[in-house]
Amino acid sequence: MIEELKIKLQEINNLNDLNQLKANYLGKKGLISAKMANMKNLTPEEKKNLGQEVNRLKQEAEALFNEKEKEIHQALVVEQLKKETIDVTMPGYKFNLGTIHPLNQTIIDLENLFVGLGYEIAEGPEIETDEYCFEKLNLPKGHPARDMQDTFYINPELLLRSQTSPVQVRTMLAKEGKPIQIICPGKTYRRDADDATHSHQFMQCEGLVLGKNITMADLKGALLDMAKKILGDDRKIRLRPSYFPFTEPSVEVDVSCVKCGGKGCSMCKNSGWIEILGAGMVNHHVLEMCGYDPNEIQGFAFGVGIERITMLKYGIEDIRNFYSNDLRFLKQFKEAK
Ligand code: DAH
Repeated sequence: MIEELKIKLQEINNLNDLNQLKANYLGKKGLISAKMANMKNLTPEEKKNLGQEVNRLKQEAEALFNEKEKEIHQALVVEQLKKETIDVTMPGYKFNLGTIHPLNQTIIDLENLFVGLGYEIAEGPEIETDEYCFEKLNLPKGHPARDMQDTFYINPELLLRSQTSPVQVRTMLAKEGKPIQIICPGKTYRRDADDATHSHQFMQCEGLVLGKNITMADLKGALLDMAKKILGDDRKIRLRPSYFPFTEPSVEVDVSCVKCGGKGCSMCKNSGWIEILGAGMVNHHVLEMCGYDPNEIQGFAFGVGIERITMLKYGIEDIRNFYSNDLRFLKQFKEAK
C-alpha cells in the first residue's frame, strides 16, 4: 500500500490533488481506515496486530504526505521567484521632468535677491477688503485713481485685490510702528480686457522699507539692484516724477532698453528706456493711518509687474503665453536662468 502511495505521489504536482489523495488514504472513510472494517471478527491477538499495522501505515502515509506538501510549496516559491525576477537590462520608465514656470523663476530670483538684502517675504490674501486695498492706501471711495483699478467686487467691502499694495497696510498694522523690510510677490486681479499686454489676472511684487533715515537714494539703490538681477548687469535705471496716492513723492521707473541697451530701437520706441514699475516715498497720511509716526519712521515702497519684467527678460511678446500651458512655450525655459 505504501509503495503504491509513493507511486501516486510522484504524479502529483499541486496542492488540490494532494489533498484529494490524502483524503482517499487518511480520511475517515479512506483506504487505511477501511482495513479496520472487519476488526470485530478477529481474535484479540489479530486485533492487536492489525491496530499496530494500521497505525504504522498511517504514520508512514502522513510522513509521505507532509514531505510532498513541502515539496509542492517549495516548487511554488521557486516558480514565483522566477516570475518576479527583475530584468535589469530592460529599458527604464521615462519620466518627463517639468520646468519651472518663467513667472515663478522671476519670483524666485526676486526673493533670492531681496532676502539677501535682508528683506522678509510677506503674504496677503487674494480676497482683500476695500479698506486695505484702497482706503488705507489713501484712495477713499470716489477717488479718481480707483478708476484705473476698476475691479472684481464680491460685495461692497470685499474684492479680488487689484494690487499687492494692501500687504503694505497689513504689514504696517502688524508691526505696530516698528521698522519693516518686506517684499510681497502675489496674484492680482483687474477688470482688464485680455490682450497681448493685459490680463485680468496677473502678478505683482510689492516692496516696502520703513525705518529711520530711509531716503529716495535707498529706493534707487534697491531698484537698480533689482533691474540688474532680473534684466542684466549692464542695466541702468532712471526715475521720473509720477503720481500714486500712497506715495509722495512718487516716481515711475524706467530701465535702459534690454534690446538696444539705450541707443533707441522699436522695442523702446526710440527712447532708449522702458517703464517697469511705480514707486515712491510712503505717503505720510498712509503711515499715520497704519499706526506709524512719520516724524519717527519713514521709507519707500514699490510695485513691479512680474509678467512685465519676465516678458522683457525673455523677449516674450504676448502675456497670454504665460497662462496657456502650451508645452512648446514652457519647455523653452528649461535652461533659462
Ligand atoms: N500698486 C501700484 C499699481 O498697481 C504699483 C505701485 C506704485 C506700488 C507705487 C507701490 C508704489 O508700492 O509705491 O499700479
